[in-house]
Amino acid sequence: MEVYSGRIKIPLIVLLLSAFAISSTRVGFYKTTCPQAEAIVQYVVQSAVRSNKSYASGFLQMFFHDCFVNGCDASILLDGNLSEKTAATNLRLRGFDVIDAAKSMLETVCPGVVSCADILALATRDSVVQIGGTSWAVPTGRRDGLVSLKSEAESNIPGPKASMDDQIKVFASKGLNVKDLVILVGGHTIGTAACSTFIHRLYNYSNTNGPDPTIDQPFLPHLRTLCPLGGEQATRVALDTNSVNTFDTSFFDNIRSGRGVLETDSMLWTDARTQKYAQRFTKTRRSHQSAFNKMFAKAMVKMSKIELKTGNQGEIRRVCNTINTN
Ligand SMILES: *[C@@H]1O[C@H](CO)[C@@H](O)[C@H](O)[C@H]1NC(C)=O
Ligand SMILES: *[C@@H]1O[C@H](CO)[C@@H](O)[C@H](O)[C@H]1NC(C)=O
Ligand SMILES: *[C@@H]1O[C@H](CO)[C@@H](O)[C@H](O)[C@H]1NC(C)=O
Repeated sequence: MEVYSGRIKIPLIVLLLSAFAISSTRVGFYKTTCPQAEAIVQYVVQSAVRSNKSYASGFLQMFFHDCFVNGCDASILLDGNLSEKTAATNLRLRGFDVIDAAKSMLETVCPGVVSCADILALATRDSVVQIGGTSWAVPTGRRDGLVSLKSEAESNIPGPKASMDDQIKVFASKGLNVKDLVILVGGHTIGTAACSTFIHRLYNYSNTNGPDPTIDQPFLPHLRTLCPLGGEQATRVALDTNSVNTFDTSFFDNIRSGRGVLETDSMLWTDARTQKYAQRFTKTRRSHQSAFNKMFAKAMVKMSKIELKTGNQGEIRRVCNTINTN
């Protein structure tokens, strides 16, 4: 018996260790199975963002919308009449072509090895770096999901009129706290929004016959000119005025002075729960940029681990827009 228990202990420990190893992501997951993986994604993403900087905000949004729905499992990439892509909030996502290009190069070099979920996580990091943002080590080893439902996208992604209570609740349900929320919404330092998402603030806010009183007075005519009453609702407006393609902290200075475009962005300053974090990144504070870079990197890694599929869960798709058929 003594002998057996001694023998059993070792394989048990090995088993436990290997179970741990496959059930989490780690930096350099493809180091031996596909050493070129990260370089290939970086190459494809760099040339895309060089050709059009708006790919960077595209990837940030796509990754956020992937992770918040069924975890970071590339469910956002799946085609289908009722897949996540078809939800109203996802109709304008862009960058699918770039992910497909990276995937097809990877399938040539190391077929069946690199997940679409990891490609998206890496592409997001690389695009932020390409527009002057911070870099971070991306843990890899995610597996691709098999399910993608429009209805789940609709219930898990806060809309542009969501209350702060609702936003905090959704983030908490993903394991993200109020500080993470502020930092991740700070990703609005790049990107644009359609007039339709904030025009309710400009003319008749909450049936007051006037604008949202938290909007800076001189800023109001600027927004009204871009989005006239009865005008084109699809017109895009920079979220971070005067700095739409630069990954900086001016977004926080803008919301501080009532120059937030989305109502949800303005709330980061008007709500005490979030203002205490947001003010850390305004220019009134020392080393605001380096603090933001550091915390953004950390929050992105945290978000990239929402409801992970690893080990034997899911699959490694052969193409990113459809699940494997055998
Ligand atoms: C970049 O892409 C966006 C979104 O597709 C488009 O509106 C814009 O015109 C493009 N910019 C350039 C310089 O091609
Ligand atoms: C989507 O709907 C169309 C029209 O109803 C149908 O022909 C097609 O097969 C559907 N595609 C998928 C992927 O379900
Ligand atoms: C604002 O909205 C309310 C409620 O819909 C409406 O009664 C009022 O006439 C509107 N005011 C203007 C100026 O459109």
